[in-house]
Amino acid sequence: MKTIHTLLLIVASLALVTACDRDSNTQSKSAGDENKQLTVGFSQIGAESAWRTAETESIRSEARNRGIDLKFSDAQQKQENQITALRNFINQKVDAIILAPVVETGWEPVLREARAAKIPVILVDRGVKVSDESLYTTLIASDFVAEGRMAGEWLANKLGGKGNIVELQGTPGAAPAIDRKKGFEEAIAKHPELKIVKSQSGNFNRAQGKEAMEAFIKSEGKNINAVYAHNDDMALGAIQAIEEAGLKPGTDVIVVSIDGVRGAFEAMVGGKLNCTVECNPLLGPAAFDAIEKARKGEQLQKKTIVQDRLFDQSTAQAELPNRKY
Ligand code: AHR
Repeated sequence: MKTIHTLLLIVASLALVTACDRDSNTQSKSAGDENKQLTVGFSQIGAESAWRTAETESIRSEARNRGIDLKFSDAQQKQENQITALRNFINQKVDAIILAPVVETGWEPVLREARAAKIPVILVDRGVKVSDESLYTTLIASDFVAEGRMAGEWLANKLGGKGNIVELQGTPGAAPAIDRKKGFEEAIAKHPELKIVKSQSGNFNRAQGKEAMEAFIKSEGKNINAVYAHNDDMALGAIQAIEEAGLKPGTDVIVVSIDGVRGAFEAMVGGKLNCTVECNPLLGPAAFDAIEKARKGEQLQKKTIVQDRLFDQSTAQAELPNRKY
């Protein structure tokens, strides 16, 4: 009887120890979790523009400031490279993923894998099209439609509602290329004598922006009144093409773009670019704040819209010293 009693006691104590262990595991995990160094995977599109380089630097430096181990992957403009990077991050059991998606579609399978592994995914700068929004934690981005609209309204006003525009589009399928086109077209639709006579992708980079502009000049000649570029780098490439064709950018051909990088401000001060709509790339602090909140189990809003402003030659000089990218 005494043996049975002792055995029961041992079994009971073992059960208690196991239960405590289980509890202390969770507790010590979350207590330890708060202090442990976080590992975050960042899948970046590439380095096609000064804007993108500034975004990469913002995320890298913020990770350094917070003592976060950042695993960086440059996708060289390819979605398949981003998907591979995300799968590697999931296999490495990172604490969170930051994704700047090159295009809008095709993300569902890999986002499902991240969700199944309970890894929060923070989208920065570009959105995705998915059937289920719970596949990502939050999106921190500018309103690209509004940016396109601002550029269109400014240009319509500058040209007095009349003229021929050539458009340099961003990467096909990318949210900013789709939305900036949409917003701009909405704005100029109110002016029947304002037309986009040619439109082509320059993939958000300077060299291809220049090439596309050369082709526009070849086919349209002096018929071009303005260039609308979906980013500053393509506009700066177009400026070179305009000059090489013997025309004056900013005067013979009005140049409007989006991003607000330092080079665009210098070009405005030099009279070669007329207007740029800022798109803030300094998203590091907001991205890591979101990760910290998600880890604490706080509810995050699905989208945080970054506020942008428009600058033209009348405000460029005063703003130039304040530019951070
Ligand atoms: O997604 C933001 C856009 O991507 C920026 O306008 C452009 O410069 C970049 O490459």
